[in-house]
Amino acid sequence: MPAGEKERARRQAHTTGGTELPLLSVSGVSVHFGGVVALDGVSFGVPSGSILGLIGPNGAGKTTLFNCLSRLYPCDRGDIVFDGQSLLRVPRHGIAALGIGRTFQNLALFRTMTVRDNILVGRHCRTHSGFFRNFLRPPGVVREERETSAKAQALIRLLELEAVADTRVASLPFGTQKRVELARALACEPKLLLLDEPASGLNHEEVGALGALVRGIRD
Ligand SMILES: Nc1ncnc2c1ncn2[C@@H]1O[C@H](COP(=O)(O)OP(=O)(O)O)[C@@H](O)[C@H]1O
Ligand SMILES: [Mg+2]
Repeated sequence: MPAGEKERARRQAHTTGGTELPLLSVSGVSVHFGGVVALDGVSFGVPSGSILGLIGPNGAGKTTLFNCLSRLYPCDRGDIVFDGQSLLRVPRHGIAALGIGRTFQNLALFRTMTVRDNILVGRHCRTHSGFFRNFLRPPGVVREERETSAKAQALIRLLELEAVADTRVASLPFGTQKRVELARALACEPKLLLLDEPASGLNHEEVGALGALVRGIRD
């Protein structure tokens, strides 16, 4: 079956009786570290187009849940279904291409690379040229490169990173680095965007701007 038809069939199977299933559904997920029970039968759903906040004190298991969704941590029990498919069968390097983008509580940028290059790395899961195509440089590769750099530039503008676009990330303030992470996560055009402690370390004004930005991205 051609890829487009396969996707349509999968989506049809994902819709039951005219009601769309949630984009993400987490059911009965449990994770323990030795004697520490980090997640104990967690279940919830996230409908498409919604913004859901996960709140809880330090150590409640929020980051652990994000790490399960990105497949960085295995689940002891339960299932995670994203866009009609169980994530537990997807390797961690396949997560971004499926349409799940994320940021990290403690930031995980390539610190010696520039803002622009970090964003370009985030775009990698949406590009197709491999080693040989890049070597031979047929017209498709040149077109893709042009598109990729235009997309990166659009994100630089959206997150107001123009002034630091060609600066190494390590020398930037924490709040700016957080915006770079968000830009990198958006570069893969995610259907689901996971933000781990997006407001930590930001001042009152920055938190307001972040809220407006997240709503803007959703719409
Ligand atoms: N890699 C790990 N190894 C051992 N324990 C962990 C690990 N990750 C998280 N934990 C433990 O799991 C619990 C939940 O942590 P975490 O998910 O970071 O909470 P939150 O993000 O809500 O603050 C804590 O008790 C934490 O110490
Ligand atoms: Mg955390």
